[in-house]
Amino acid sequence: MKILVTGGMGYIGSHTCVELLNDGYEIVVIDDFSNSKPEVEDKIKTITGKDFKFYEGDIKNRKLLNKIFEENKIDAVMHFAGYKAVGESVKKPLMYYDNNLNTTLTLLDVMKEHGCNKFIFSSSATVYGKPHTLPILEDFPLSTTNPYGTTKLMIEMILKDLFIADNDLNITILRYFNPIGAHESGLIGENPNDIPNNLMPYIVKVATGEYECLSVFGNDYDTHDGTGVRDYIHVVDLAKGHIKALENMNGLKYYNLGTGNGFSVLDLVNTFEKVNNVKVNYKIAPRREGDIDACYADASLAKKELGWETTKTIEDMCKDAYNFVIKNK
Ligand code: NAD
Ligand code: UD1
Repeated sequence: MKILVTGGMGYIGSHTCVELLNDGYEIVVIDDFSNSKPEVEDKIKTITGKDFKFYEGDIKNRKLLNKIFEENKIDAVMHFAGYKAVGESVKKPLMYYDNNLNTTLTLLDVMKEHGCNKFIFSSSATVYGKPHTLPILEDFPLSTTNPYGTTKLMIEMILKDLFIADNDLNITILRYFNPIGAHESGLIGENPNDIPNNLMPYIVKVATGEYECLSVFGNDYDTHDGTGVRDYIHVVDLAKGHIKALENMNGLKYYNLGTGNGFSVLDLVNTFEKVNNVKVNYKIAPRREGDIDACYADASLAKKELGWETTKTIEDMCKDAYNFVIKNK
């Protein structure tokens, strides 16, 4: 079976390429390196000992997409490509709507032209907005608070309409909670060039001395220690969820991919310090606008229908995130 992986040089896409190759799938990857580096291609090949075809370019380029589908018999598409920085999306909404929506529309259209009917989409827990209760189930009401989140919700709506028009399609929408960690080899992981918005990349930069101090955004939330609680999931567990999704496609489906456990900012900081034997300086800062107290998944549907469960602990996530950055300094 041949899978087209869009955005396969990125953080989650690269880990999924590794799992696909390890499981014997053939892959074809497209990426424009707008948020990743060319060396990831060789690193995936080193980890797996397997080769694959790579196309550099923008998915909005219909001519290139057609060429890919003509040169390869694609059975299914995993669509990771897109922009993902919440703050940037608020400042540059058109850039986000253009890239996230137009890549998806072009891709779906070209897939149709070539008779490819399996599509797995990277959505986000951000589509649940401010959940009225926890844990979050797939049928909770949907809403968004920023343009990035709105692009995800709009794509979900487009996919629903498309499925109504064409019941032969198999579409699986995966709503990720908070992916962190890295491949245990330390070859691939997440290391943003810009100042990170997300917690784990920031913790790592404080631990390595690149930044002086982590700002903990609020300690007066309604959580066990007052700091924000999230459902952190190891990126390798997340990648494996995509394989399970691929093996169990059946109509239009939605799955939460999370562990079902909530950890606070201070839980993560303390665990990181303990397992890596490093200091993470922090100070309490005001709340970040738009943040919610707590967010964690009910992931039982993915367990029941896909046979998928996470296996990695919060300790593994902290260890692997640090290992990756130390090895790639
Ligand atoms: P990433 O930025 O590391 O990877 C995305 C990849 O897509 C990058 O390599 C980038 O160069 C590529 N890309 C972007 N636009 C492109 C285009 N027009 N043509 C070709 N390539 C393009 O992001 P990630 O963390 O791996 O996330 C993957 C997907 O999962 C994204 O859609 C993201 O919104 C979604 N998601 C991520 C998180 C998270 O915390 N990382 C959480 C929920 C959902
Ligand atoms: C953020 C995005 C969300 C996106 C997700 C994964 C916002 C409002 N939401 O979620 O749309 O899907 O990333 O990419 O940006 N924190 C600190 N100090 C920091 C950074 C974070 O205390 O320097 C806290 C936050 O307040 C939060 C927790 O750490 O309580 C996790 O934050 P983050 O990693 O940014 O993820 P989310 O806010 O859950």
